[in-house]
Amino acid sequence: MKVVSVVGARPQFVKLAPMAAAMDQAGLQHIIVHTGQHYDPNMSGVFFADLKIPAPDINLEVGSGAHGAQTGQMMAGLEKVFTDQAPDWVLVYGDTNTTLAGALAAVKDHWPIAHLEAGLRSFNRRMPEEINRVLTDHAADLLLAPTEVAMGHLAKEGLAARAHLVGDVMTDVLYKVRDAVTAQNLVAAGDYLVSTIHRAENTDSKAGLARIIDQLAALPIEVRLLVHPRLAAKAKQHGLSLNKGAIKPAQPLAYPQMVAAVLGSRGVVTDSGGLQKEAFLLDRPCTTLRPETEWTETLAGGWNVLALDAADLAQVVMRPTPTTSRGTPYGDGRAAQKAVITLLGE
Ligand code: UD1
Repeated sequence: MKVVSVVGARPQFVKLAPMAAAMDQAGLQHIIVHTGQHYDPNMSGVFFADLKIPAPDINLEVGSGAHGAQTGQMMAGLEKVFTDQAPDWVLVYGDTNTTLAGALAAVKDHWPIAHLEAGLRSFNRRMPEEINRVLTDHAADLLLAPTEVAMGHLAKEGLAARAHLVGDVMTDVLYKVRDAVTAQNLVAAGDYLVSTIHRAENTDSKAGLARIIDQLAALPIEVRLLVHPRLAAKAKQHGLSLNKGAIKPAQPLAYPQMVAAVLGSRGVVTDSGGLQKEAFLLDRPCTTLRPETEWTETLAGGWNVLALDAADLAQVVMRPTPTTSRGTPYGDGRAAQKAVITLLGE
């Protein structure tokens, strides 16, 4: 069986790592196509190196651009790759423009599509990711869902027959990396928060971004803001400085360093999906600067709090670490193996 994985943006490399290992173990033929959506070394290459992912077989080098131009350019490249490779499965990951380009290019030419991380919903149609994931789920033949909640969304949309609950593959990687960084003594505990802001909804408007920067700057604790290139570009465009008050701006971290930083922190303030879940799985309280979350399981017991409109952000982020049990809503760290078994139809 031949699987073509389509990846391009940072969180997809993290999801690819356990999938590539599980496919290798199962003896599948696996071709990795990188669309080039992310291209800075600290947004791409470092993940392949640290997570020991085989180098991409093909890189389309599409780069940044407006949604239509970027997605269209990817589709043109992918169409040719699929024709050349004739895969048994086109495997797409998550909810980025790379995901949608892979799904649209494949469905028109009748290549079977599997969507990993299917069924997540924010129900916020102004998010590009929401559009990407809904359209991808409806184009796909096999839906590999991370949670029961995701399975429920797929059922409501009439997609239950194609859906399989496999668990969350990011949990697979996270547990391995957590154990490795702890064994290597890479965790330095300190009184700081880890923060990331990159969503279009939070960075595109000057007033919205200025408000978030001011709220972070006023916190009574060091805020290690790991500056995604989109945030850097938008702050510059809006004439806003990130070097303000409690904020200590820093470059985005490689994955093991990120996990170590969260483990050493008092908590997380973010608009990232993956980081909300990572904080939850690493026993750190998360404050999410969004009106909703796809990872609703993290909200149980106050481990994650949605606080975009909080009048007093300090009160929310400085809340005591919850003590309630979180259960295992994201699986047992073997989701990739289950996903591969499902791909094989066993
Ligand atoms: C994309 C995904 C988002 C995901 C995020 C993870 C879409 C619609 N969004 O958002 O779901 O959470 O990746 O990081 O697909 N840039 C660089 N170097 C890079 C990559 C980007 O400088 O390597 C800058 C460019 O100015 C670019 C901007 O970041 O225009 C945005 O990049 P893009 O890939 O369009 O979206 P992200 O915000 O990264």
